[in-house]
Amino acid sequence: MISYKELGLVNSREMFSRAVKGGYAIPAFNFNNMEQLQAIIKAASETKSPVILQVSKGARSYANETLLRYLAQGAVAYAKELGCKAPEIVLHLDHGDSFETCKSCIDSGFSSVMIDGSHLPYDENVALTKKVVEYAHQFDVTVEGELGVLAGVEDDVVAEVSHYTKPEEVIDFVTKTGCDSLAISIGTSHGAYKFTPEQCTRDPKTGLLVPPPLAFDILDAIMEKLPGFPIVLHGASSVPQEYVKIINENGGKLPDAVGIPEEQLRKASASAVCKINIDSDSRLAFTAAVRKVFTETPGEFDPRKYCGPARSLMEELYKHKIVNVLGSDGKLAEV
Ligand code: G3H
Ligand code: 13P
Ligand code: ZN
Repeated sequence: MISYKELGLVNSREMFSRAVKGGYAIPAFNFNNMEQLQAIIKAASETKSPVILQVSKGARSYANETLLRYLAQGAVAYAKELGCKAPEIVLHLDHGDSFETCKSCIDSGFSSVMIDGSHLPYDENVALTKKVVEYAHQFDVTVEGELGVLAGVEDDVVAEVSHYTKPEEVIDFVTKTGCDSLAISIGTSHGAYKFTPEQCTRDPKTGLLVPPPLAFDILDAIMEKLPGFPIVLHGASSVPQEYVKIINENGGKLPDAVGIPEEQLRKASASAVCKINIDSDSRLAFTAAVRKVFTETPGEFDPRKYCGPARSLMEELYKHKIVNVLGSDGKLAEV
């Protein structure tokens, strides 16, 4: 049993409580490799932001869970080296699919886990989430549950249809399970294609797709039922069109990719939404930078020459999210 506390990590309880009161959100960035992690830690350290490092099932099988945990441990040391006296870094399991997966992460140094029982019948979701909470809380590990199903299909995170969270269920769910935060479904989805062109309108000036608004009425109803309770938004990438353009101009093919407009995420961050999950935007930044290098210098074969620019672009993206969208800059308890 390795305690996250020995690794210098923190759970999400304190930072969520401050974020809800302060009207901002903590960034939860997925990582699969060293370059993503370096960019996340540099961005969070330089902006003095708490940060959540998310590891998905896909990341665990791609990069190896043990290696990722050592990388996260290294991240704490790296943040200190960058001048952060007391970094607040959470190592979080994203979309945990079973009690066993959550237990294995808790036992190996994760400070927070998500148990995603959103696809199960309600009572089974309650029972599974409660079981994970009972185990996790013995070790002061925080637990995110989910109610409502996101639309979209992406790798291991599959949901064909979207079922918005039912506000009438949230009090019962949170009370029965004891979870520390709740992921909800209000119209976001995973991946770079969050809406079909038919669901959007087109901006007559730019020709770009304009997605429909998120269901803020449902978020308001949930907040009314659970005042001050930490709410989580998955599928919150904005799919920056400048990256899509670079990708498409350099041999890629991402027609009609569309995400959540940033002003909607700003509005959500100012509410009880205190954790915003971003993965696809980082993938797009990485891919855009690499494709550009390959087009401009086809003879390049040193991975540092294309992973380096990718890392720089991701760092710029993470800083932008922290400072201009989520508002978590300068929010470390000890600066
Ligand atoms: O929520 C989903 C994340 O984007 C993780 O995706 O399973 O492909 O790593 P992944
Ligand atoms: P995006 O695909 O919108 O980045 O969502 C990521 C996510 O929700 C990870 O759990
Ligand atoms: Zn997710």
